Amino acid sequence: MTSTQAEIDESYSVSNDFFKLWLDEGMHYTSASFLTGEESLEEAQINKCRILYDYAEMNEDKLILDIGCGWGSNLEYLSTRGVKRAHGITLSTAQAEWINQRGLPGVTAKLMDFHDYEPEEKYDALVSIEMIDHICSPEQARKGMAVELYREYFKRCHSFVKPGAWFACQAILRDRVPRTRKDLEDLAFTADVIFPGGLNPRLEELIMAVRPYWEIVELRTQRECYGKTTGEWLRRLRANEATIRERWGDKVYVDYERYLDTCVRAFDAQWSSDVQLKLRWCAV
Ligand SMILES: C[S@@+](CC[C@H](N)C(=O)[O-])C[C@H]1O[C@@H](n2cnc3c(N)ncnc32)[C@H](O)[C@@H]1O
Repeated sequence: MTSTQAEIDESYSVSNDFFKLWLDEGMHYTSASFLTGEESLEEAQINKCRILYDYAEMNEDKLILDIGCGWGSNLEYLSTRGVKRAHGITLSTAQAEWINQRGLPGVTAKLMDFHDYEPEEKYDALVSIEMIDHICSPEQARKGMAVELYREYFKRCHSFVKPGAWFACQAILRDRVPRTRKDLEDLAFTADVIFPGGLNPRLEELIMAVRPYWEIVELRTQRECYGKTTGEWLRRLRANEATIRERWGDKVYVDYERYLDTCVRAFDAQWSSDVQLKLRWCAV
């Protein structure tokens, strides 16, 4: 496997209160979808959930799994849409505890590695929002294992569902390589310090890896949306600088400011992008 539980805990366990200060109220830790350019971050996060809800052809009666469910932001959306049964899995201890304390109607979350998950019942629909970015490590990619590991992920997802299911998958992408030493160092810092063990896939790798388990029916990229999302996170982080330095120390503030500032530049300069895929189940 790629990101270990210790690495995931390093990425998501500074403190729930820390993330709450600069993410939105719902604690979505993934790109929002700004459709008009006029929306708040909160509204754009709901747009994202709605797009993925439609991509996976969900409805109230379907049994839904959110793979890599974070702090349950999308599960909360499903609950507000009246979905009667939605399950989430996350590898972060802090996130699983947080969701289960909230008691969202119809929602259950498990602290569980996706690679070990054996559902008791097959699902009608899947959603996974920027979890695939934890599937292949930089070292595994250097060994040429990326497509094979992503295909394993899509195969496992396929084994979780009933025939005819739909899967809405969102992923951060790596695209162009920066030219300057500083930019390369900032990107390496983000990968090594903030998200150890993770690597953003290339779009071409995902397109190759979904087969033979899924068919791509729709594909939507939203690079600028992630630029806006990370820009808003950075603005909120800076607005809370004094509190963060006092409660979590200078290093946490400095590291997160560097990481978010790098993200804003990465989406602007097209080193990174973001994709939403509508995937149809295929008979294998
Ligand atoms: C970038 S966060 C996204 C969280 C959430 N989907 C959202 O939109 O806010 C990635 C999530 O994937 C989870 N994750 C990473 N590797 C995992 C694995 N092997 N099994 C289960 N969850 C995993 C992390 O715990 C985290 O919740």
